[in-house]
Amino acid sequence: MRKKLIVIVLFLCVMLVSTACGKDETNNTPMPTAEATPTSETTKAPEVTTTPEATPTAEATPMPEATPTAEPTQIVTDPGKVLVVVFSATGNTKKVAEMVAKTENADLYEIVPAVPYTSEDINYNNYSCRALKEQSNAAARPEIGSETIDISGYTKIYVGYPIWAASEPRIMDTFVESYDFGTATVIPFCTSGSSGIGSTGTKLATLAGSGNWQSGKRFPGSATEKDVQTWIDSMKPAQTE
Ligand SMILES: Cc1cc2nc3c(=O)[nH]c(=O)nc-3n(C[C@H](O)[C@H](O)[C@H](O)COP(=O)(O)O)c2cc1C
Repeated sequence: MRKKLIVIVLFLCVMLVSTACGKDETNNTPMPTAEATPTSETTKAPEVTTTPEATPTAEATPMPEATPTAEPTQIVTDPGKVLVVVFSATGNTKKVAEMVAKTENADLYEIVPAVPYTSEDINYNNYSCRALKEQSNAAARPEIGSETIDISGYTKIYVGYPIWAASEPRIMDTFVESYDFGTATVIPFCTSGSSGIGSTGTKLATLAGSGNWQSGKRFPGSATEKDVQTWIDSMKPAQTE
């Protein structure tokens, strides 16, 4: 009888213990951090969605803003039409102008005086020769005899002349005052015995009142194609790629 009681008590104890443990396990089950994980995953989820949003950011990369960058490139790439204008009394500047035109694949326009200069007219040993008289008169505007030219389509215009009495021949003043250079790039050049181009380009730019005038270049009468090529190359923008 005692043994039976002990067995029953023991059995009840075991049952109690096992029931108690069973409840703990059940309590632990709902705890599953797993649930917290999904919750936090849900929190993270939008972040993951954010990552794809980085793609839109990447979509912004093909930035149409890159297009403006392409615009200047187009300007640089487009050679436009080039014109070489020249006045030359004894042929030196005309020779250089022809080399420039050849190098630049440009059109050539010669300023021919309505009244041609005779050798006596340009005999600078004679202070009263026609050329020097004109040079000493800032208002002198010798007439141009050559047909007028439409320069509106040219984006780059070279303007060549000899140096007379340390300045540009007055007929060049006539020329620049007769034309609208618009926004064209204008590049003066000259030939001379020894004088530099000085401020002749600036004076012409002022008289013209239009055009984007660049600093000019003086050549000796004996300038070669290589000299011209070197000068033109020096004006090209540095290649970046
Ligand atoms: C009237 C006259 C004035 C000149 N004055 C100068 C001068 O001041 N400085 C100079 O270096 N050369 C002077 N020269 C020389 C010319 O600039 C030079 O010979 C030039 O290359 C001539 O160019 P062309 O053959 O295109 O006319 C003068 C020439 C002439 C006809």
